Amino acid sequence: MKIAIRYYTKSGNTKKLADAIAEVAGVPAKGVDQPLTEDVDILFLCNSVYWAGVDGKVKKFLKTPGHKIRKLVNVSSAAMIESTYKQIKTLASEAGIPLDAREFHCRGSFAALHKGKPDQNDLENVKKFAKEVLG
Ligand SMILES: Cc1cc2nc3c(=O)[nH]c(=O)nc-3n(C[C@H](O)[C@H](O)[C@H](O)COP(=O)(O)O)c2cc1C
Repeated sequence: MKIAIRYYTKSGNTKKLADAIAEVAGVPAKGVDQPLTEDVDILFLCNSVYWAGVDGKVKKFLKTPGHKIRKLVNVSSAAMIESTYKQIKTLASEAGIPLDAREFHCRGSFAALHKGKPDQNDLENVKKFAKEVLG
């Protein structure tokens, strides 16, 4: 099974989640500016929201991932919203990429909100989630 991890981060929170997944998946977490080098069965897309929207670089990656993504798995952190699932679902569907119904989301620190998040517990939880997805 081919697995890949891509992330977009502004302040490091989402990278922590992506790196935790990398530990259990055994593949490196790379930025969304790095296109896929082969077709993948599972792509963990770690992302967030900035002023209510997913970053343009994440949108660009989904439009032109470089290779086929058989299944996309959404992983997000945010300060206020529930998750980025709905936005990613729209983008994935426009790009013809199947999105797994399972997702991971946790709080991410922003200004005075949620200091220290994602924390150790979130990182353990995202690893558990990734293991479940990978079967
Ligand atoms: C410029 C900026 C705008 C943000 N806007 C929102 C927002 O509209 N809604 C929200 O829930 N969180 C918002 N956040 C919080 C981020 O989603 C949260 O800090 C997230 O964990 C950031 O991930 P990152 O460190 O990987 O960039 C914003 C953060 C930044 C830096």
